[in-house]
Amino acid sequence: MIRIWTDGEISGALDRLGRVGTSFAYAPEAAAQRAVSITMPHRLPSYDWPHGLLPIFEMNVPEGALRERLIRSFSKATGSFDDFDLLSIVGRTQLGRIRYSAMDAVLDEATPFQSVDEILRARRDGGLFDHLLDRFARYSGLSGVQPKVLIRDEKKFSAGKARRSSSIRAATHIVKMWDRDEYPELAANEFFCLLAARKAGLDVPVFTLSDAGDALVIERFDIGDRGYLGLEDFCVLNGLGAAQKYAGSYESRLFRRTRDFVDPADQPQALQALYQLFVLNCALRNGDAHLKNFALIYDRVDGPLRLAPVYDLVTTKAYLPNDAMALTLDGSTRWPDAKRLTQLGQLRAGLSPSSIGLIFEETADAMADVWKEAARYFVGCSEPGVGERMKSAWEEGIAEALGRGRALTKKASPSPQEPKPLAKSQAALLELLRTEGGALLGSVSSIAAKLSLPPSTLSGALKALQDRGLISREGRSIRLADRDV
Ligand SMILES: Nc1ncnc2c1ncn2[C@@H]1O[C@H](COP(=O)(O)OP(=O)(O)OP(=O)(O)O)[C@@H](O)[C@H]1O
Ligand SMILES: [Mg+2]
Repeated sequence: MIRIWTDGEISGALDRLGRVGTSFAYAPEAAAQRAVSITMPHRLPSYDWPHGLLPIFEMNVPEGALRERLIRSFSKATGSFDDFDLLSIVGRTQLGRIRYSAMDAVLDEATPFQSVDEILRARRDGGLFDHLLDRFARYSGLSGVQPKVLIRDEKKFSAGKARRSSSIRAATHIVKMWDRDEYPELAANEFFCLLAARKAGLDVPVFTLSDAGDALVIERFDIGDRGYLGLEDFCVLNGLGAAQKYAGSYESRLFRRTRDFVDPADQPQALQALYQLFVLNCALRNGDAHLKNFALIYDRVDGPLRLAPVYDLVTTKAYLPNDAMALTLDGSTRWPDAKRLTQLGQLRAGLSPSSIGLIFEETADAMADVWKEAARYFVGCSEPGVGERMKSAWEEGIAEALGRGRALTKKASPSPQEPKPLAKSQAALLELLRTEGGALLGSVSSIAAKLSLPPSTLSGALKALQDRGLISREGRSIRLADRDV
């Protein structure tokens, strides 16, 4: 049996049921606010599920590389291993407000410290991936197929009292990595998709791409000022197991469900944000927008719900040239055109044609803007072909889904006035150049030592800044280019 906690207090117990099922019973004395899900109010009879875990408990069970790693490490000790066993390991450090422990144990969420900066500056192929999985897999109660872990670096947390609190002992960031043989440059792909979401005005948590492009570090958005927020994905909200994440239609499983759960007063805002995100997914050609990639969040289980910030946006067409949508719209997984998307916005999100037109325009502008930076990144990355395929996918998406004839290359010509976000090491080097009057003389290792950077990171920064035309190099001399940066 496993004890279930919500918001740090006892909620009930989960047990096995038959050969492969599970049964959850609330502690009789637990208050209504201890409910594990908005779909499972407190009651005395147990909630029984004949196959695997109830959706709310299955929601954060590791999948993919993380799951394999955990099974490899722990099945030696236990022989066989299923989701119930996995929960008893990673359940004490999970996303959201539910925790799991042995029946006689107290809650202990302590997660080892890991500097975010160290991850951002790690050199390519330096074993980061294996190190993080080895050290953090057991603290990583989060789902998703891509390799990822939860880590703790409270000093790097950006907002909110609880977030800044030095007493945070639990995980604060998600680190997403990628498998070279499967989805090269996936972190950069997601980085630029998330950047487009932010530019288009959507709510996106703080995220950073590592200097080497190996990892994407994202702040948890489920930590509020007074503790953890409730987080329920659309598999849970539809009463479905994770295996059903590609099943059904966007109309009923996403838009109708949002109407079902969000208070009428908050619906216009939630539906508009959901629609905007859906439109962006079509324009980015993200064929993996399944039910676990949308969620609602809340402060209290009996309080109002809102759409979760944006996560997991990827141009999947960069890897799967024929990729279609994850769920159906109008009975088909074919990408919709602008006319069909306009109908969806009017019918399901209650939007006027003019506000829909504005959403299309803002989405196209955001993507064109982001592509300027993406183009620069992909030229010098490990697999430039990914960038080329992303670009064609975005152009196709902008033309078909948004009905805009916007060529990304034309827009992509560099303009000196445009602000260019720089990696930390690049910014540090520019700062040093400025304080030194615009020029530096010395070997890479001596300048790296001045900046407390590994020489390989400095070499990467030098190359990137040269590619951007921000510095020039001649032998051991480095100069600021003759323009304002
Ligand atoms: N910033 C965040 N804060 C809190 N929870 C998050 C955040 N980002 C993602 N999540 C949760 O973690 C889960 C896994 O993350 P994500 O979807 O990014 O992984 P993935 O491996 O790319 O997924 P997929 O299997 O869909 O490709 C999400 O389904 C969501 O529940
Ligand atoms: Mg996902």
